[in-house]
Amino acid sequence: MLKFDFSKYMNSFLDLNQKNKLESRKAEIYQKFNQSKMTAWYKDSISQEEIIRIKTIAATVRNNSDILLVIGIGGSYMGSYSLKQLLLNPYKKDKIEVIYIGNSLSATSLNEVMEYIKDKELSVNVISKSGSTLEIKLTYQYIKEFMKNKYSEEELKQRIIITTNSELGFLKEEVEKNKYIHFDMPKEIGGRYSIITAAHLFPLAVMNCNIDNFLIGYEFGKKYIDDAYSYAVIRKMMYDQGKYIENYSVYEPKLYYYIEFLKQLFGESEGKDGKGIIPISTVNTRDLHSLGQIIQDGSKIIFETTLQLNLNDDIKFLNHSFSNYNKIVCESVRQAHYEGKVPNLMIELEGPIDKTIGEVTIFFMMAAAFSAYLFDVDPFNQPGVEKYKNIVNTKISI
Ligand code: PA5
Repeated sequence: MLKFDFSKYMNSFLDLNQKNKLESRKAEIYQKFNQSKMTAWYKDSISQEEIIRIKTIAATVRNNSDILLVIGIGGSYMGSYSLKQLLLNPYKKDKIEVIYIGNSLSATSLNEVMEYIKDKELSVNVISKSGSTLEIKLTYQYIKEFMKNKYSEEELKQRIIITTNSELGFLKEEVEKNKYIHFDMPKEIGGRYSIITAAHLFPLAVMNCNIDNFLIGYEFGKKYIDDAYSYAVIRKMMYDQGKYIENYSVYEPKLYYYIEFLKQLFGESEGKDGKGIIPISTVNTRDLHSLGQIIQDGSKIIFETTLQLNLNDDIKFLNHSFSNYNKIVCESVRQAHYEGKVPNLMIELEGPIDKTIGEVTIFFMMAAAFSAYLFDVDPFNQPGVEKYKNIVNTKISI
């Protein structure tokens, strides 16, 4: 379950007339959202057949491999990677290790991985909706050369899994030419909105994460549609009064990559046409001792959204439990920031984390789309990202 506090440390910053004006755009924006071809992640659900196929192939990979290499970037990477960090205990070793590559062009990082995997049994899942992103094409071809020296053509058909669109592109050709395993990335779902597709569910299934619970939470979270709209309205009101930066603040380090996911979701969805809120993040209490200073006392261009996890694995010590110490600090920071003219919102996640993270994920996805519409930009394109890709393509051809 999600609990929202959009008022305590916010209301005095909101002008009621402006709020009503933005609230009155709700019908128009819901209509745009429903009519968009790119909202299949909200309108449809993944089929049972696809879930069974994901689990079956994941079980084979768990059986025949020590390592699954996941090659992806942006929306084809951040979702499952952030859930891995959140849902798994890093100190509990599993029979299979999942390593993410292709999200940089660092030779040093790739060399380290190659050295580590050289004597291990491998599978690879390459994920790219377009099938033509430079980092992905390069890394995939490099890994494939390496695997060709290790495995026969027949074995590669079990060990190379390609997640891409079903129509065109370099990776689609690879599927057709070599008969590799293929998962579809639907046309009607953009990269950063693809968390309920095989692009993310397959790596999560290989890691033995409970994808059923995640999907139950995700479906349930659709009921927060009006809360998502209210959140989008407040964000827009913040922007209109010069608060151009939103700080996503968490008190649970395991959420570190989840807020990276949010930064990508909001930054790529609404940062267009010279508009948009710049998302930043703090992991507390660590960052109270660094960015905390400038948030409290610096330029008054920041507002905050705090994500609070209420987990059950508490430790009682001295006067309180650790969760209580954490909550007391969080509440104190919210009050101090408010008094320093940093208005802030709070979203609490209550219940089993694999379900509630599904709930809050669709909440944020709906909010990102509504926010972009309130800025009168298209939530589902990324012309700014294409710009550098196009320049690179004039300089490198592979
Ligand atoms: O959200 C998006 O659309 C982007 O972040 C893409 O996911 C990213 O650019 C990678 O693209 P592709 O999956 O085509 O390799």
